[in-house]
Amino acid sequence: ALISLRQLLDHAAEHSYGVPAFNINNLEQILSIMQAAERCDAPVILQASAGARKYAGEPFLRKMVEAAVEMYPHIPIVMHQDHGASPAVCQQSIRSGFSSVMMDGSLLEDAKTPASYDYNVAVTREVVKFAHAVGVSVEGELGCLGSLETGEAGEEDGVGAEGKLSHDQMLTDPEQARDFVAQTGVDALAIAIGTSHGAYKFTRPPTGDILAIDRIAAIHQAIPNTHLVMHGSSSVPQEWQAVIREFGGNIKETYGVPVEEIVRGIQNGVRKVNIDTDIRLAMTGAMRRTMAQTPGEFDPRKFFKDATLAARDICVARFEAFGCAGQA
Ligand code: G3H
Ligand code: 13P
Ligand code: NA
Ligand code: ZN
Repeated sequence: ALISLRQLLDHAAEHSYGVPAFNINNLEQILSIMQAAERCDAPVILQASAGARKYAGEPFLRKMVEAAVEMYPHIPIVMHQDHGASPAVCQQSIRSGFSSVMMDGSLLEDAKTPASYDYNVAVTREVVKFAHAVGVSVEGELGCLGSLETGEAGEEDGVGAEGKLSHDQMLTDPEQARDFVAQTGVDALAIAIGTSHGAYKFTRPPTGDILAIDRIAAIHQAIPNTHLVMHGSSSVPQEWQAVIREFGGNIKETYGVPVEEIVRGIQNGVRKVNIDTDIRLAMTGAMRRTMAQTPGEFDPRKFFKDATLAARDICVARFEAFGCAGQA
C-alpha cells in the first residue's frame, strides 16, 4: 500500500533501521527494487527526480508506481519526489499522487545556485503548509551537498551547486537545523556531511576528515523528531567499476560512501538513504557484459533482464545492511 514518508520513517526510528530511497526512471529499475523488497520483506521508497519526469513523463512514472502497489499489496511503498526545485513543482507532484515531496530550498530554482537561509525557510514552510493539509510528507535540505575532499557538488547535469563550496556550506549546523525545523515543520531533513551526488565523490576511500559521520549525532540531538536523510549515498562499488572497464566503459578511479559508514550514520539517527548511482553502475555493467559476451543477441529483454538482476542484488544488499529487511 502507498504510505507517507512520515509513517514509514516513524516506524524506522522506532525500530532503529534505515530505509534506502532508490531513484526510479523506468520499468526495470522499479522491477529490481520491488523484487528485492519482496525477497527481503522490506518497505520501499521509490523516488523520482525532475530528470525522471523528463525521461519517462509523469503519467508513466505514476502508473508504474501504481502497478508496483498493485503487484505487491503487502509491501509499504512511499512515492517520493526527489529534489523539488520550487513550491510549484511540489504542488504538481502532490496532485499527481506522490505521498511525499522534497522541497530542496538549499538551492535556488535553477538547482545550481546556493540559496539564502531565509529563502530556504520561506519556500519550505510554504510547501509544508499545503502538503500537510493533504497528508503528504515533506523533506527539506539544509546545507549544500559537496565533497569535503574536493569542494565540488558533483553531478554536472542534475542537482548541485556550481563552483567550489566552502567547508561551512558543506556541513549542516545543528543549531541552524533546530531553527529550520521550528520554522518549517518538515518531517525529514537532508543534511550535508561531506557526500555529493554522482559517481565521483572521493579520489580515495573516505576517512573521518572527509566524511563527517560524527556530525550526524549532534544534528540528531538538536532535532530528535525530524528524520535525517543522507543524499549522495551510493557506495560506487569497485566490482562494478571493474566490470564496466573490462567491457569497454571508461570510469576513472573513484570512491563512494562505504556501506559501513552509512550503517554508522543509521546508528546515529539517519533514516532515509538516497541511492541512485549504484543502480546506474550495476545496470550499465551488467548490460555491457551481456552485450560483449553474447554479440549475436539482439533481444533487448536479455540485456534488461541482467541489468534488473544486477540492480536487484544491490538493493537486497542495502536492505539487509540498513536493517530494513523484515520490516515490511
Ligand atoms: O539528485 C540526483 C539524483 O541522482 C537524480 O539524478 O537528476 O539525473 O535524475 P537525475
Ligand atoms: P547518489 O548519486 O550517491 O546515488 O545519490 C543520489 C541522491 O542523493 C538522489 O537524491
Ligand atoms: Na529526496
Ligand atoms: Zn539528492
